[in-house]
Amino acid sequence: MGGFRGYRCSICGQEYVEGEVTYTCPQDGGNLDVMLDEAAIREATNPAEIMASRDESIWRYLPLLPVDDPGHAGTPLRAVGWTPLFRPRRLAGRLGLHDLWLKDDGRNPTASFKDRASAVVVARAEAIGADVVITASTGNAGAALAGMAAAVGMPAVILAPKNAPKAKVAQLLIFGARVILVDGTYDEAFDLSLEASKAFDWYCRNTGYNPFTAEGKKTAAFEICEQLTNLSGSTNTRVWQPPDAVFVSVGDGNIISGLHKGFKDLLSLGWVEEIPRIFGVQSRGSAAIFNAFKRGTETIESVKADTLADSISVDLPRDGLRALRAATQTGGAFIAVPDEAILAAMRDLARQAGVFAEPAGATAYAGLVQAVAQGLVDSPDRIVVLNTGNGLKDIPAAMQAAGEPVVIQPDLGELRRILDAA
Ligand SMILES: Cc1ncc(COP(=O)(O)O)c(C=O)c1O
Ligand SMILES: [Zn+2]
Repeated sequence: MGGFRGYRCSICGQEYVEGEVTYTCPQDGGNLDVMLDEAAIREATNPAEIMASRDESIWRYLPLLPVDDPGHAGTPLRAVGWTPLFRPRRLAGRLGLHDLWLKDDGRNPTASFKDRASAVVVARAEAIGADVVITASTGNAGAALAGMAAAVGMPAVILAPKNAPKAKVAQLLIFGARVILVDGTYDEAFDLSLEASKAFDWYCRNTGYNPFTAEGKKTAAFEICEQLTNLSGSTNTRVWQPPDAVFVSVGDGNIISGLHKGFKDLLSLGWVEEIPRIFGVQSRGSAAIFNAFKRGTETIESVKADTLADSISVDLPRDGLRALRAATQTGGAFIAVPDEAILAAMRDLARQAGVFAEPAGATAYAGLVQAVAQGLVDSPDRIVVLNTGNGLKDIPAAMQAAGEPVVIQPDLGELRRILDAA
């Protein structure tokens, strides 16, 4: 562990030592950034040493994380992260881009980016002797927590909205979590989970509440820089090569905040020389942070979320301020895309790049398409798009994007007629 020093509030800047607080700032409810001891990290490791690591998971970055080695070798907890960074040349060609990359986090153990956060939170839960972990979730965070808890044998309680996609609910159940569906929105499930966590003294993983989630998520920023450096064949392994721009979908805003934290960690360690522009992409039907970005304010107002991208369907983002700053402080932007563009992005990613994304995962790519049209990125830019969730998580949405198959009698003549008609 990289000398975990405590926390700093993202609103008032107040610092807290470990043990003084658990979740958010007691003064203003602000999300807490974890502070690390950079000298201790530099002492413990360096970029070249990490590049030589044979640990193909987030745990290759253990010295940069605020937890000790969690053990559990040979379990899915140790298989989170180090997801592939693809180079989708046909997609790039269509968009007129020369240096496009696609990081597929649908390939994590429970098939979403959320495993990164849940693995680190479970490690923290064990370190502080928590008996039970709880989370509210639109589906993926819960599936990830249920999966990671199952991997280490820790009881988990998940509160999800009643209308969460069936595949995600199936994941919660099969991993043996205590699953309670709430007849209400994700935001209502969130509030209930906070009450339950206090009432029953359960350790709460909630996104935009528990400071350890962003620490898990920042590992994607590390991987992006390390993998780009690997792929470039650079011999300078003292400094990693960040991309020029990163596109990521945004609901509560914790993934984008975690990515920003990861790039900032690398910059202050001197392991990268600059930070990429970060672009947050929301669905138009759930665009609270985009609205604030457009108005040029840090006041984020609640919306009535309505989008087919269930994972990013959020009324009031719980990590909105840090999410907004991830874009404003890096020269990026917030982008909002309609649901039809998300469906088109699902088709394009699958057909042009062979990557099957759930709606929220494909939203990042839909944002890139719009950014290209608006001239927000240039063709030589090195751009990374993150797919945050596997398409098998939401089959009805995939069918909506792809259409229904043709059914025929087992007869060659009929097959010929169908082929000729196409
Ligand atoms: C697949 C997927 N993409 C994107 C997000 C958005 O992450 P955040 O809520 O941290 O903005 C989520 C969150 O549930 C998700 O499951
Ligand atoms: Zn504060």
